Amino acid sequence: MPKPKVLATHGLFEAARQILQETCEMEYWAKPERPPREEVLRRVKDKEGLICLLTEKINEELLSVAPKLRIAANVAVGFDNIDVAACTKRGVVATNTPGVLDETTADFAWTLLMAVARRLSEGEELARSGKWKNWDLDQLVGTDVWGKTLGIVGFGRIGRAVARRASGFQMKVIYTDAQRAPAEVERALKAEFWEMNALLAESDFISLHVPLLPETRRLFDAPKFKRMKPTAFLINTSRGPVVDEAALVAALEGGQIAGAGLDVYENEPFIHPGLKRANVVLAPHIASASLETRTKMACIAANNVVALFAGQKPPNILNPEVLKAS
Ligand code: DGY
Repeated sequence: MPKPKVLATHGLFEAARQILQETCEMEYWAKPERPPREEVLRRVKDKEGLICLLTEKINEELLSVAPKLRIAANVAVGFDNIDVAACTKRGVVATNTPGVLDETTADFAWTLLMAVARRLSEGEELARSGKWKNWDLDQLVGTDVWGKTLGIVGFGRIGRAVARRASGFQMKVIYTDAQRAPAEVERALKAEFWEMNALLAESDFISLHVPLLPETRRLFDAPKFKRMKPTAFLINTSRGPVVDEAALVAALEGGQIAGAGLDVYENEPFIHPGLKRANVVLAPHIASASLETRTKMACIAANNVVALFAGQKPPNILNPEVLKAS
């Protein structure tokens, strides 16, 4: 039996390659830059499997040129790059990598929170520049984190992991979500459910942890920023389009909020020039980027592919109805 042909639109960690090598005839995109779209469309034509990153749009355009495709395995938990309905219509299984990046992403939300509160980017720049002349009482004074109020928007696995870390900082934790968490979760995390507007007005730090859905697109817009404290900070490690970037820039410029820590942007890799300011800490979408976690994500994607070709249900299938139909 010939092995199924699978395209990976990027290199994969060795551990993931090993999982795939027995079962699949692999083709890896080996260049450091992302493959141009035409190249992906050309290479996917004869493939039965695709392992892709969140930068790859898995939509009708791609599916229509890949009639043999049976699985699109995203190496990410977020899957807003995948048109799952279009995959289902064409009998293509879509998978993601949930569960393994929650703690790592929560660590990074805290990294941004701490960095922006204590003006780390500015301090580092000064320390490296050779322009640091002396210690001064009011030099680069930031704001305390401990004892403040942390507002979490989206209380799924990552939001809860962020909340768990707050107790070490003696913070009050409030959250909002479409669905209230079970009482035992609230108790364990000492987290209180608040309505969005009340949370906006109360929080010193607001950390976003919602998926990108039609109802969360531009969830944070001008009216929301108006409700925040002028001393408050916004942290975003979820998806860029959850925030109206132009409104965020206006809020920063107008002093409606004190600053932001951002890992994600509306039109990555473009970063709105108005965000390149001293009170904003910027990162290039690396919240899950620890070697341990990224390796696990790649292995999960590989295992999803291998499972399908072994006639099993991929553990992280997003559209199980595809298998029921066949
Ligand atoms: C995801 O998995 O959705 C992240 O944004 C990348 O780790």
